[in-house]
Amino acid sequence: MACRVRFEPLGIQDDLAPDSTLLSGLLANDFKVLKECGGRGMCATCHIYIQGGMDCLSPRTKREEKTLSVVANARPNSRLACQAKILRSGVTIEVPAGMYVDVVEDIEALIGRRTEMDLLHPISGELLVEAGKLITRSIVNQLRDTRVKVSEYLAHTQDV
Ligand code: FES
Repeated sequence: MACRVRFEPLGIQDDLAPDSTLLSGLLANDFKVLKECGGRGMCATCHIYIQGGMDCLSPRTKREEKTLSVVANARPNSRLACQAKILRSGVTIEVPAGMYVDVVEDIEALIGRRTEMDLLHPISGELLVEAGKLITRSIVNQLRDTRVKVSEYLAHTQDV
């Protein structure tokens, strides 16, 4: 039987197959998740909060705990969507505002403009640009550098 999931703050509802990941639900609903590590629980680009129904999900994996321990905006109800599998209906997900910035090039096009919402680093979850502030080239460079470092790190790391 399909499992009902709700995505806030957009109020979208969807039915996911049991045992599928929340990441597949986000992607099916057009959320732009970077999936920097390819869904291996190592990058936090799929970080979400669970507003309700944590017990309707598989427990956190060891790898997930490790990754979340270094994410700046992690909370007790944080999950990595690629690691959380849905067991039954009743999950409400909070998608962090500003989390799903698309590719670096998209942000580059916004240099010199003011962001309408907080812009979070897609990997560390740190606040890059506060709502209403200017997007600068140094921020874009910082993003680019980090993505290179993460790719190198992932190339030399095995799953746990
Ligand atoms: S996609 Fe990398 S942690 Fe989920």
